[in-house]
Amino acid sequence: MRSLQIVQVVGTRPQLVKAGALSRAIAERSASDPAVKIEAILVDTGQHYDHAMSGVFLEQLGIPEPDVRLGVGSGSHATQTGQMMMRLEPVLAKEEDAVLLVAGDTNSTLAAALTAAKLGIPVAHVEAGLRSYNRAMAEEINRVIVDHISDLLFCPSERAAANLAAEGVTQGIEIPGDVMFDTMIMTLAAPLDWDGLAGRLGLPGEYAVATVHRAENTDDEPRLRSILEALGRVAMTLPVFLPIHPRTRPLATAIGVPEGVTLLDPLGPEEMLAVASRARLGFTDSGGLQKELYWLGVPCVTMRDETEWVETVEAGWNEITGADTDRIVSAARRFLDGLPAHRPQLYGDGRASERIVDALVERYGVTA
Ligand code: UD1
Repeated sequence: MRSLQIVQVVGTRPQLVKAGALSRAIAERSASDPAVKIEAILVDTGQHYDHAMSGVFLEQLGIPEPDVRLGVGSGSHATQTGQMMMRLEPVLAKEEDAVLLVAGDTNSTLAAALTAAKLGIPVAHVEAGLRSYNRAMAEEINRVIVDHISDLLFCPSERAAANLAAEGVTQGIEIPGDVMFDTMIMTLAAPLDWDGLAGRLGLPGEYAVATVHRAENTDDEPRLRSILEALGRVAMTLPVFLPIHPRTRPLATAIGVPEGVTLLDPLGPEEMLAVASRARLGFTDSGGLQKELYWLGVPCVTMRDETEWVETVEAGWNEITGADTDRIVSAARRFLDGLPAHRPQLYGDGRASERIVDALVERYGVTA
């Protein structure tokens, strides 16, 4: 019998999406393998706290109720990260034989990884090796630090592993694929009343979906204005639906949302994937949505100056436009005129979480 304790720390919407597949894989391995006993502890930092940004993800993705809620909430980067570390330390100190499992690049990821590393608890990082090479992004700083203090690094692609090698990180690297693909497959398998949802949201037969939440776009008036103007121009021929992150709403409303662009409240994972999968086109500054649109066969206009998911751009399904109105509109036109003939399989096969749990058991399981 091998036993293992996994502490998974989540806090934000994208981490909950990744935790959906990971929590299920942990539960399945425990239930199906009598030779392995896994104790899973789920900690929620509380970085996201609105039901639409957190609770609905737990419900729809079947994530167990967190064992510990740190209740940190919003704040400046230092306040948020510092509070998380202070509240997490006594929790992790009690679990000194555990391995920490964190995903992505948010302040919750950074706080958990730093706290664990300083307590001598091994850190396993999911979505390791991603780089935008833009240090003005909080997420880039977070992911560089987390990768450099992690013991096991789970990369979604060969490219991510090569990025790590270029920084001298060569130990503990695994390439299981992307857990978001696992969660997407799981989520799309759930039954959904599409006509009911489309009716409730007012979706026509043809539409585009957009999201904007990245600090560089939401905290910069000219950039957000330019993005909204572009969406308004697209909406003259194709209506645009924009489920809006709470941080974007005040400035977007102050600038004014153009005709044809409909603001929606944030959507849960099932609704978001249903809406994205039926869209003709997506506009986003999210990392996760770029990949989801790719897997769904929906072209994506990325309203950032760079992307970590370069393979989707190379495949011809994603175009980087920054916040420039003309570039956004012309990318949209190109995609509406025609799509690439091929869409190679990227970022794994939907079984990344299973491989991650296997690797954790292999490396950290102790014979009981
Ligand atoms: C965080 C992540 C970002 C990720 C995003 C997904 C960092 C540095 N950024 O950004 O990488 O893509 O989550 O959404 O960790 N707010 C609410 N309700 C909530 C949560 C936030 O109203 O439940 C508002 C608050 O005004 C808050 C602001 O959104 O100040 C920003 O929230 P925060 O968690 O700091 O960052 P995100 O923009 O969500």
